[in-house]
Amino acid sequence: MAELPEGVKLTWLGHATFLLEAQGKRVLIDPWLQGNPACPDELKDPGPLDIIVATHGHNDHIQDLTEVAKSTGATVVCMVELGDWLQSKKGIDNVVAMNKGGTTEIAGIKFHMTDAKHSSSFTESDGTVIYTGEPAGFVIELETGFKIYHAGDTCVFGDMALIRKLLAPDIALLPIGDFYTMGPRSAAEAIRLLGVKTVIPMHYGTFPLLPGTPDELRKEADDVSGLEVVDLKPGDSIGS
Ligand code: NI
Ligand code: MN
Repeated sequence: MAELPEGVKLTWLGHATFLLEAQGKRVLIDPWLQGNPACPDELKDPGPLDIIVATHGHNDHIQDLTEVAKSTGATVVCMVELGDWLQSKKGIDNVVAMNKGGTTEIAGIKFHMTDAKHSSSFTESDGTVIYTGEPAGFVIELETGFKIYHAGDTCVFGDMALIRKLLAPDIALLPIGDFYTMGPRSAAEAIRLLGVKTVIPMHYGTFPLLPGTPDELRKEADDVSGLEVVDLKPGDSIGS
């Protein structure tokens, strides 16, 4: 299985939710926990957190953000409109509300916000739909220079070639479920554009609308030499 640098651990909590442990910090990406049918029970409480990253406002990415941000005091990194709403309506103080192309550094970890092609809104329990700005992805750069790309929800887009040119991620977390995002065929093209050799598929299998599988991705991308599709199960980790 793919190696992460010493002292870096990445755990898939199911769907698009990941816990990154690096440089003594704990970073939770896209917190969907309690209602996430793919999240193992023992991981629904992610423990202490330093940073929470939100790619966009959809409920399957930030449903538990307010609660875990308040209970942990973690700094939230997200799009401007989503961040403004979290501050003004949800009472979260610690927000870095940024935009695409920008980089913020927190505790020695750099967060580069990239493009993503999708939509972004939050649906309140009474059905009210809140606009939360554009969706994004993130390239997370550690002090060693190692870079992890979480694509968020997106279709494939040609400017992934620019993400390769400017940021050159070492590992990519790519949605493959289809319907709301790329499916395996598009994700294979994303792999070619990004030039990555290590890919963790996500945003598939959570519910029946997301039929893409890692095996289909392997088949679609079988021309990419040296590619490793790391087929994690929810709750699995790579690294240590
Ligand atoms: Ni979404
Ligand atoms: Mn989603």
